Amino acid sequence: MNNIWSKKIQSTELLHYSRMERFNDNNKKIWFEILEVKPNLTILEVGCGSGHFCNMIKSNFPNCNIFGIDLDTNHINFAKKESKKFNLNVNFQEADISSLPFADNTFDLIFSHTVVEHIPFDVFIKEQKRVLKKDGKLIITLVNASSKNDCPFEPFQNEILSLYSKMQFNQYSKPMKFLQPTDKMMQQLSMNGFHNIDLQFKKIIYYMPDVQENKQIAKQQIEIHYKSKLSDALFNLSRSKNAKTLKAPLISLLEQQYEKRLNLLKENKKIFDFETTQIAIISAIKK
Ligand SMILES: C[S@@+](CC[C@H](N)C(=O)[O-])C[C@H]1O[C@@H](n2cnc3c(N)ncnc32)[C@H](O)[C@@H]1O
Repeated sequence: MNNIWSKKIQSTELLHYSRMERFNDNNKKIWFEILEVKPNLTILEVGCGSGHFCNMIKSNFPNCNIFGIDLDTNHINFAKKESKKFNLNVNFQEADISSLPFADNTFDLIFSHTVVEHIPFDVFIKEQKRVLKKDGKLIITLVNASSKNDCPFEPFQNEILSLYSKMQFNQYSKPMKFLQPTDKMMQQLSMNGFHNIDLQFKKIIYYMPDVQENKQIAKQQIEIHYKSKLSDALFNLSRSKNAKTLKAPLISLLEQQYEKRLNLLKENKKIFDFETTQIAIISAIKK
């Protein structure tokens, strides 16, 4: 059993809500285009976390054979439950990227989202290359964190940030230690049996309730946004030395923020708050 990621870095719940928000129904087409998902492919996601991406692909491309692996037991258990809940039949299993439990030449497509920065690049690609078919596609996606736009509208945001600043974490290590420039990764792919190596950047607006014609969708976006922030707060509180004094006021502020935002929607007062993310996409074909 390995729960290091979900206990120390990102809880399963936090990953689940943040991915529900980032890969929502509104922008799923963009993700499918990025990955070039087509019916009948055999697809592997490495470092699949809570499994949101695999489940989303399977529910839109039921003829694809989808596999998701991750090192973290909590993440994989959660992913399996979600897949079962929606009768999706995705094959999730606990496994290490450095030793994939699949035969050579199995997959048409292997992808990952925000995983490459946590593993030495040569280790990251070695096994993926082995299990990819000849002419199979490798897609590595990562977020350009500095490109994130926070909502310009956030009632109570200064108060919330002030409580965050008092957290004092027991231990906090966000292990992005293997992050390297995209050109270096592309060079290594080229030297290690890949060709047609390409790089794209996409900016994705994943939260902007006021541009939705359907109020129900707008409401859903506000709800997921709140749940994502709440699970982030709860996870950070679980590692904070000052959780006892901070928990009640922080949760209360997040609830007030959520209520206020919902009321603005009901009253049709548009404020056009938004969040975006910029994704780097490296793709390559196995020779
Ligand atoms: C930032 S999270 C991204 C999860 C998922 N791709 C997503 O975007 O929701 C990184 C994931 O990589 C997994 N991971 C890290 N090292 C791994 C390894 N050696 N083998 C398999 N999974 C690994 C972690 O457990 C974690 O779930």
